[in-house]
Amino acid sequence: MSEIDETSLSCVKVCKSFGLGAQRLEVLKDVSFDINRGESAAITGSSGSGKSTLLHILGGLALPDSGDVFFKGKQFSTQSESERGNVRNEGLGFVYQFHHLLQEFTALENVAMPLLVRRLDPNKAMGKAEKMLGQVGLSARAGHVPAELSGGERQRVALARALVTEPSCLLADEPTGNLDRKIADAMLEIVFDLQSKMKISLVIVTHDQIISSRLDSCYRLVDGRLNS
Ligand SMILES: Nc1ncnc2c1ncn2[C@@H]1O[C@H](COP(=O)(O)OP(=O)(O)OP(=O)(O)O)[C@@H](O)[C@H]1O
Ligand SMILES: [Mg+2]
Repeated sequence: MSEIDETSLSCVKVCKSFGLGAQRLEVLKDVSFDINRGESAAITGSSGSGKSTLLHILGGLALPDSGDVFFKGKQFSTQSESERGNVRNEGLGFVYQFHHLLQEFTALENVAMPLLVRRLDPNKAMGKAEKMLGQVGLSARAGHVPAELSGGERQRVALARALVTEPSCLLADEPTGNLDRKIADAMLEIVFDLQSKMKISLVIVTHDQIISSRLDSCYRLVDGRLNS
């Protein structure tokens, strides 16, 4: 298998619905998508169209009802939850729409967490986390727990946590949603800089046209289908 195939993320004919009977909501209908190393894609769509659902499935955080997801040549549906967790930790960075920072840990500890999970030496993990926190402009908030951070600061901590492992693919769910233009642009520069240095691929759910215009392709979810 070529290097490109090894590092690409794809899903094939993914269907996902919630609820039962008359309440059943078909959110994704036969969605296929792929991204190769170094490529970038925006996913747009109205509120409730299934963007977060799709991103979670691509990131192995949720399983589809049918269809498959492949990352680095591996099929998520054949892996156990802990195997998928390892694959995520090694190759995928995920920025959740609502941060999901650990409330009892400081910003620095939150950023270091994926490295500690990998059992990296704690001093090295903290050093890398400090550097990454500096890159998102938050060195001065390293000791704050999430409740002591603004919404935009939490979002930047979440980005730093997703990037600290130098993933080959970053999946970000409206990463600049609460940020003003200046900070959103600074965050984007970090992401694009890393993309060109590390050749990572980017899948970004966004309503921000300035972001989507800078990505290689732009998809829109409409009625459960992904249109380019
Ligand atoms: N666990 C769940 N149980 C039931 N319904 C769900 C669940 N998760 C999502 N949904 C429904 O699926 C639809 C798609 O949700 P999703 O979060 O993917 O939308 P979205 O496009 O990310 O929206 P937004 O732009 O508001 O973040 C919504 O109508 C939502 O109510
Ligand atoms: Mg969403």
